[in-house]
Formats: sequence, C-alpha cells, structure tokens
Amino acid sequence: MSTPIQYSSRGSVAVIQMDNPPVNGLGHALRSGIIAAIDRAGADAAISAIVLTGSDSAFSGGADVREFGTPKAGTAPTLLNVLPAVEDSAKPVVAAISGNCLGGGLELAMSCHYRVALATATLGLPEVKLGLIPGASGTQRLPRLLGLEAALNMIVSGAPVAAAKFKGTPLLDEVVDAGVVDAAVALAQKVAGQPIPKVRERAVPGAKTADAFLGFARNSVAAASKHFPAPAQCVEAVAAAAKKPWAEGMKTEREIFLALMQTPESRALRHVFAAERAAAKIPDVPAGTPLRTIAKVGVIGAGTMGGGIAMALLNAGLPVVLLETQQAALDRGLATIRKNYENTVKKGKLEPEQMDERLARITPTLHYEAMADVDLVIEAVFEEMGVKQAVFSQLDAVCKPGAILASNTSYLDLNQIAGFTQRPQDVIGLHFFSPANVMRLLEIVRGTATAPDVLATSMALAKRIKKVAVVSGVCDGFIGNRMLARYGAAAAGLIDAGAPPQQVDKAMEGFGMAMGPFRVGDLAGLDIGWATRKRRAAQAGVAMAPSVANRLCEAGRFGQKTGAGWYRYEAGNRTPINDPVVAEMIAAHRAELGITPRAFGDAEVVERCIYALVNEGARILEEGIAARASDIDIVYLNGYGFPLHRGGPMLYADIVGLPNVLRALQRFAAEPGADASWQPAPLLVKLAESGGSFN
Ligand SMILES: NC(=O)c1ccc[n+]([C@@H]2O[C@H](COP(=O)([O-])OP(=O)(O)OC[C@H]3O[C@@H](n4cnc5c(N)ncnc54)[C@H](O)[C@@H]3O)[C@@H](O)[C@H]2O)c1
Repeated sequence: MSTPIQYSSRGSVAVIQMDNPPVNGLGHALRSGIIAAIDRAGADAAISAIVLTGSDSAFSGGADVREFGTPKAGTAPTLLNVLPAVEDSAKPVVAAISGNCLGGGLELAMSCHYRVALATATLGLPEVKLGLIPGASGTQRLPRLLGLEAALNMIVSGAPVAAAKFKGTPLLDEVVDAGVVDAAVALAQKVAGQPIPKVRERAVPGAKTADAFLGFARNSVAAASKHFPAPAQCVEAVAAAAKKPWAEGMKTEREIFLALMQTPESRALRHVFAAERAAAKIPDVPAGTPLRTIAKVGVIGAGTMGGGIAMALLNAGLPVVLLETQQAALDRGLATIRKNYENTVKKGKLEPEQMDERLARITPTLHYEAMADVDLVIEAVFEEMGVKQAVFSQLDAVCKPGAILASNTSYLDLNQIAGFTQRPQDVIGLHFFSPANVMRLLEIVRGTATAPDVLATSMALAKRIKKVAVVSGVCDGFIGNRMLARYGAAAAGLIDAGAPPQQVDKAMEGFGMAMGPFRVGDLAGLDIGWATRKRRAAQAGVAMAPSVANRLCEAGRFGQKTGAGWYRYEAGNRTPINDPVVAEMIAAHRAELGITPRAFGDAEVVERCIYALVNEGARILEEGIAARASDIDIVYLNGYGFPLHRGGPMLYADIVGLPNVLRALQRFAAEPGADASWQPAPLLVKLAESGGSFN
C-alpha cells in the first residue's frame, strides 16, 4: 500500500505533503503518517521548521468518508491525538493551504502554528450539515482566531468561505495568489527558532462581552433551525470557548459531539449523505462504462414538464430543440419559459444577458426532422399510451442511430413504450418532478432492454443538470408515485373512518411533511386524479369506487384553482379555510358506505400514512424495483417533501424499529374491511423477525 505522506526537505525546512487522493481525507494511515512525519522532522537536527501541505485541490477535505462506520474511523491515532502532536511540536509548523480545507482539515490547519493559504482555497467547518458540531477542537480554535461572531457564523452555517476573505485575520498569516508552498517555506525559515505561538493559548476576542451576543445567537439560531438540534449546540460549544478554559471547553465540545452523534437527526443527515453517494452506483453498471456524448437534446411537448425540462437543460449549457405539433402550443410554451427566466432576473438571480443566451439556445420546431441530429430526446407529451406510441414511432424513424430516446411518463409501462421502436436498448425513462427546473429528483426508469451505457449516460446527464438521480425498475408509478398512491389511500381511508382532513394535514405537518396530503391535493388540482380514476375504471370496465374526492370534483371543487377543494380559498390567497360543505360531503359519503366514524389520535394518523409508504417501499425493494432502501429515501426526500430530519421513510422505519412497524401494520390489516395493501410485505416481516433493518 502506498504511504499517504510524501516527506522531503528544503534546506532546513521539512515539507510534509499529505497524499491521500482524492481529498486528503484524514483516514487512519494519513493520521498515523502525519504524526510519524512530525516526529521524524523533530528528531532531525538539520531541520528547524516544518511545512504541512496537501494537494492543489485539497489541503484536506476532513474525515475520510470511506472510513465512515468502520472501526478504523475511531482507531488511534484519532484526529484528537494528531492535533496536539502537531501543536506541541518543538519546531514551528506552517500549514500551506490550497483547495479545500474543510472540517478536520481546517482543525488540523488550526493546530499548526502558522497558516499560509492560496486566495482561492476554501475554508469551512461543515459538520453541522451532518447534524454534528466540529469534533476535534474546531469550535474552540476558530473563535480564538476569528472572534465569536465570525467563528459562530461559519460553524452554524457550515458554509465554506474563500481564503481571500480571511486576509488580515489571525486565521491566516498570509494569503497568496500563487506559490503557497514556497511562501510557507519562506515563513517557516523566518520563524524558525522563535517562540512558538499556539492557538489553544490565545484568548478569545470579545469573550468578556460575550453574553449579549450569545443570547442573541441562541434566539436566532433556535428560530432558524427548527427540527435540528446541532445548530443550537454549535452556539453552546462556541460559548464554552468564550467562557471556559481550553481544557474544559474541549470537554464540552466532546460531550456535545458525542450526544449529537446519538440523535436521530444526525443519523438522518449522515444517512442522506451516504445515500446520495450510493444512489449514483448501479450494481450491474460498472463505473467505467463508456458514455454516449450528449451535446444537443430534443424535448417533445412544451407543456408544464417539457418547459421545465428544457429549462433544466438550458441552465446546464445544453442546446434544446423544442417540439410541439401546434404553433399556438409552442408559442405558449416558449412564453412560459421566457416568463420564468424573467422572474429569476427580477429576483436578481440571473443576469439579463444569461437569460438571452439561454433563450437563444432553444430551437423551436413543429417538425420531427429537427430531431434528426439530437443525442437525446425527452418526451413530455400527454400521459396516454396512444400519444406516446405516435411520438416514439416518429422518433424511431427520424433520430440518428445511438440517440437516447427518453420518456417522462409518470405511470405508463416503459417496456411497452420501448416496444414502439426498433431500438428498445436506447429507450429509458427520465422522470422529472414538477417544476422540473427546480426539483432535484430525477427517477431514471430502466426498461428490461435498456442498455448499460444508456443508463450510465443518463446518470452522468443527471449530474450535469444538477439532479439527484435514482434508478427505478418498471412498475405502475415507479418508486415515488407507486408509494404515493398508498399514502394517498391511507389518508383517504382516515377521512372515511372518521378523521377530518384538517386533522390529517396537521398531523402530517407536525411530523414534518412540507404540506399535509389534502393541502397538497388542493394545490396540485384534484381533477387530475379524478380523470385518472375515471379512465382506469373505464378501462377495467367497472364503476369508479365512491370517494369523497370524487364528490368534491363532481361539485366542481378542483382545489385552489377553483377556489375550493378540501378547503375553501379566498381570491388571491392560498390559506386554506375550513368549509362545512366538505364535512357534509364526508358525512354523506360515510353514510353511503355505512361507516360509523371514530376518533383518531395524531400519532395513529402519522403511523397509517407513513407505514403505508414503508410497506409499499418494502415491496418495491423485494421486487428489485429499487436497488436499495436508501434509494427510496432519496426519492421521498427530494421529490415528495419528506422531512430531511427523518432521513426518509425507510430510515424512519428503521429508527422506529421494524417490529413496531410490523405490529402496527398487522393491526391495520386485521380491521374489518381492511384493504389488502395493509398486509405486511414479506420482506418487512422477514427483517422484523430476524432483527434486521432496511438500511
Ligand atoms: N405535471 C406533472 O407534475 C408531471 C410530473 C412528472 C411527469 N409528468 C408527465 O409528463 C408528461 C407531460 O405532462 P405535463 O404535465 O407537462 O402535461 P401538459 O399537458 O402540461 O403538457 C403536454 C404537452 O404536450 C403537447 N403534446 C401533446 N401531444 C403531442 C405530440 N404528439 N407531439 C408533441 N407535443 C404534444 C401538448 O400540446 C402539451 O403542451 C406526462 O407523461 C406526465 O405524466 C407530469
């Protein structure tokens, strides 16, 4: 195994270069290597000072994520052992910083006696983003170098800051535009033999008058970080730096760090961090799979989704050929895209020239021949198989060989769509979420014939257009909408059985959902689901099952757009107002079905809605529609407003404990007239009984 340290000397200065690509993650070998190199320099009489540096792209990105969850992460020497070894070196140590200097990397730099940075280097303590505080003296060192306020801002936000911003502060002794190692060596030569300054011996600037600031910080941080305990704990750790001697402050930092490690919120954030990385890997598509070139993209349909998809592509610098069959629809679509960009310009988030440049990259067309030279085409026409068939047969006829043909279908059978072409290996589902230029999720639907390089190319495209991609197999609604159907059914079942819609919405919002299911329905429009139910019933040759939702639609209550749905709305106001008419409809519906209503506690409301998701997620997993439970969590977090602090439905089930989830499902399934979907999924039963978990 190669050593992660390069040791050399320049005259009387030892240069210790960390060499653990890609980001100099502070793994066990690197941690041991730093101590050994410091000792080597210390023992060499010809050496009078030391420079510690990394690569151009990273001094160090902090902890080595490859060690997360392994025993190596906590094996001595830990970072808490490395930093005193550096700080107590009898020869001065100068950090030469370029690229990322984050988390443990910055803590390491702050244990050096001097710091020289390239102006473009980025410094930060991002631990709060994982629900933690910096755990190796960051909360005690940074206030000593930057003062309370600036240090707390950095620690609470977790945001990286350009080194240039720290010019003239004790955090950086020098900021240079080039030659950072040379500058550090020069500084090392200058300070050799002088008394060695130690950060831990510095006083915290402003400590004496800290109370007012800390009081203000406690209030504002608590207000801004509902659901997450870590930001408030950042304040307490920084307060300890101000109020306590070094050793006690360090003890406080450690206690807070260890306590936060045990919180479900930190577990959720760390899960999401790992889950996003895992989702990028497709088990049977190796990382080195050759990619097809995507330089020009076609979009079919300039409606809600087509317009948003076009914008997502334009935003990433791609040229887009946008096709509609009617000039009026094309004009409407283009006008909407322009209006959206104009709004962004008005908000100051886009320069007018950038808008013009993006709009200029659209080629509007009414003719399929314009698709002859595109590398990828994404179809976003009406959700009807007949329309999809017409589109895909035409694409098959005009597109060049090797072009990827993608559908944005929400529910339809992708394999059937692929069958409309002579090239099913080139057909894939790219399921965007509305608004497609904003929502981060992209479900990539893999057909039975989809070629590995088409999948790999689609994953790469997702990254390019800044989406988080999750691969789904083919089934009705894929991962997200298939689960959503169960969630909706559970919510509707609650209404039928006795819970008012307001209670269900409030309970789910209390759980952390951005909006309760009935408010979402009013926002999205109830007519869409109504039309789908009518079509499906007609196709199956059966009568539509009675529901309150149908009654609402029959009364013209389609949601916000008609001023009434599950709630009533005043003109120009999106605040939902309770409407006694809805309560009457619900009562009539219950009477029709012979239901005697009963009361539900909020906890049961949440159990029913969330466990319905979990149970369907388990089925999706055992059918191989999703490759891993964490993929399902990523879908729900990024596409359906699931609360981040819960880590997704599958992690939530793990945290609740699968035996508890199982018992609840068994209870729901045993109720008279219970829907068959409440039967626990065999995978859930197996995991619960064997002490297993989804993640
Ligand atoms: N709206 C959503 O939230 C959402 C989310 C994900 C996926 N989808 C899916 O995206 C697709 C489009 O949905 P939408 O909401 O954008 O619908 P929409 O009605 O807003 O837009 C569809 C557009 O396609 C055009 N069109 C119809 N037939 C065409 C044809 N043969 N050739 C070219 N253009 C044609 C229509 O003129 C219209 O502008 C559907 O498959 C839908 O299931 C929708």
